[in-house]
Amino acid sequence: MYKILAKRVLAQGTVVENEIEAPRIAAKAKPGQFVILRVNETGERIPLTMADTDPNRGTITIIYQVVGKTTALLKSLEVMDAIMDIAGPLGTPTPIEKKGTVICVGGGTGVAVLHPITRGFHQAGNKVISIIGARTKDLLIMEDKMKKASDEFYVCTDDGSYGHHGFVTDVLREQLTKLGSEVKEAVCIGPVPMMKFCSKVTEEYGVPTMVSLNAIMVDGTGMCGCCRVQVGGETKFACVDGPEFDAHKVDFEGLSKRLTAYVPQERQAMDRYEQ
Ligand code: FES
Repeated sequence: MYKILAKRVLAQGTVVENEIEAPRIAAKAKPGQFVILRVNETGERIPLTMADTDPNRGTITIIYQVVGKTTALLKSLEVMDAIMDIAGPLGTPTPIEKKGTVICVGGGTGVAVLHPITRGFHQAGNKVISIIGARTKDLLIMEDKMKKASDEFYVCTDDGSYGHHGFVTDVLREQLTKLGSEVKEAVCIGPVPMMKFCSKVTEEYGVPTMVSLNAIMVDGTGMCGCCRVQVGGETKFACVDGPEFDAHKVDFEGLSKRLTAYVPQERQAMDRYEQ
């Protein structure tokens, strides 16, 4: 059992941060890796990226948006309650090395996934420019931590309630135009349309780009095939070959279709849970 040590409800009550006692995972986790958890013995298995880890305290931090039955159930747990099982760290760690200037772009809860990667690039001696965005100011998360992990930091909101009025792609384009070939890599993590459009922008400027794919997962060890994605015309398993892939080769349309394949069943499960 994995005890919840802290709980914070963020972003209009729909996003939750939990610090969880998981010393063996915290000791091994690297940026880009994730866990798969099951809230109780009849629960489904859901993948969540660690927004932070503290090997000294033996804790991992997850941030998730309440989008269905499992995340609603998870949100119902309070401090000192326990999650039944957490498997991890899973997935291939982000290849982090000193490259020069790296742009990190995050949208919505994707910022939680982006944070350890941003910090990793920063600690490796890169100049890190971060751009984070959300629909509105109240939905922005991890602003302070992202700022701390960056040399330059920009915020965007779709409705103009904070920072740049517009999309992260606007600021990304501005930076790429200004810095040109100084930018050696971009990392874009967030909703699928955001990653798709960021990837189109970086492709125009010839900047290698990495995205983290939030595929539906079951086992997380490459056995069920549920997390399959098309990358460069080949089938890859997001859980073991990823979750990060070359953005310019990802079939984002195929990913969107697979992510919505179980929406009716997810709605039914949520309706039953709420009754
Ligand atoms: Fe089963 Fe990836 S989650 S193969």
